[in-house]
Amino acid sequence: MLRFGVLGAGRIGKVHARTIAANPKAKVAYIADAVPAAAEALAKEYGAKVASVEEIMKTTDVDAVLIGSPTPFHAEQIQAASNAGKAIMCEKPVSLDVNAILETLKIVEKNKSTLMIGFNRRFDPNFADLEKRIRRGDIGDVEIVTVISRDPAPPPPSYVKASGGLFRDMMIHDFDMARFLMGEEFVVVNALGSSLVDKGIGEAGDVDTAAVQMQTVSGRIAVITNSRRATYGYDQRMEVHGSKGMLSARNVHNTTVEIHNADGVKADPVQNFFVERYVAAYANELNTFIDAVSSGNRDPRPSGFDGLQAQKLADAATESWKTGKPVKVA
Ligand SMILES: NC(=O)c1ccc[n+]([C@@H]2O[C@H](COP(=O)([O-])OP(=O)(O)OC[C@H]3O[C@@H](n4cnc5c(N)ncnc54)[C@H](O)[C@@H]3O)[C@@H](O)[C@H]2O)c1
Repeated sequence: MLRFGVLGAGRIGKVHARTIAANPKAKVAYIADAVPAAAEALAKEYGAKVASVEEIMKTTDVDAVLIGSPTPFHAEQIQAASNAGKAIMCEKPVSLDVNAILETLKIVEKNKSTLMIGFNRRFDPNFADLEKRIRRGDIGDVEIVTVISRDPAPPPPSYVKASGGLFRDMMIHDFDMARFLMGEEFVVVNALGSSLVDKGIGEAGDVDTAAVQMQTVSGRIAVITNSRRATYGYDQRMEVHGSKGMLSARNVHNTTVEIHNADGVKADPVQNFFVERYVAAYANELNTFIDAVSSGNRDPRPSGFDGLQAQKLADAATESWKTGKPVKVA
C-alpha cells in the first residue's frame, strides 16, 4: 500500500486525491495546505490526517508525495521529499527557473528518487493512442506536428503576473506534447504573442494569444497555437502529418448527440475545461505513477528531464516573443 502525503488541497490536489483514494494499491494518508481549513476539508473526505509539509517529509508513514502546491514551492518540495526518501509526483511546471530545475534534478539523481512530472495530456486516451500509432509507423516519418490549445476564458490579470506568463504556464503542456509526439528534441523556437482577449493581461506583461514554430535538427517542424479564450469551450486538438499519412485527434463533446435539420448539423459544446476534459488523463497519469513505484520502476515518464526540456522551450519562446527573433535551444 503506497501511502501518500498530498501537498496542496486546491483544484488539482483534489483531482489527484480522488485517484489515489480510488486505487486499491494506494491511500491518502496525510494532507498539507497553507490554509488549514482546505487541508481539513479534503482530509475529512478521505479519512486522512492533516499535517504540515515538514511533518509529512519527516514521518515514516508516508511513501510518496503528490505535489499540488503553487508553482513557486515545487522545486523546494521535490528536494525535501527526495532527501526524505519519498517517491515524488509533482505538478507542472517543476520551476519557472531552469537553474532551480537543474539543482533539483541533481538532488533527485543523487538520492536515486522516483520523480514524475504532471504532464497529464500524455495520458489522455486519444492523445496516447495517437502517439502509439506514430511510434508504430502508421504515418511513416513525422514531418509536422500541430497542437491547438485554447482555454475557455482568461484568468484574471492578477493570476498571470505570478504565473510566469502564457508560454511557461499554459503552453508548457503543448511544448511537452510536441516533444512527446515528435520524439526528437527541438533546437530552434520562434514565437509571436499579443493580448487580444484582455488588455489587462498585456498591461500585466503577458500575452493571451500566441503562436510558436519549432524545428528539430533533422528539420521536422511543430506549430503550437494558444488562446486564453474560446467561446465554444476547452479547445484541445492535435494533428501529426507524416510521409505516409496524417493522424488527428478532435475535441471531446459533452455528448455525442447531434441535431440535423434544415439549418445544418449541430453538436453539443466541447467539454468546458481541464477538470472535465482530462478526467481520464489525470487518473491514468497517477495510476501509472502508483504502478511504477509499486513495481520498483524508478524512471516513469514524463520525468524530471521532460520537465526541464519543456521549461527550456518555454523560456526560449518567451525570449523570442520579447526580442522578435528565433531563439536556439541547447
Ligand atoms: N496538470 C494540470 O493540468 C494542472 C492543472 C491545474 C493546476 N496545475 C498546477 O498545479 C499547481 C496548483 O494549481 P491549482 O490550480 O491546484 O492551485 P490552487 O490555488 O487551486 O491550489 C493550491 C493549493 O496549495 C495551497 N498552498 C499554498 N502554499 C502551499 C505550500 N507551501 N504547501 C502546500 N500547499 C500550499 C493553497 O492554499 C491552495 O489550497 C500549480 O503549479 C499549477 O500549475 C496543473
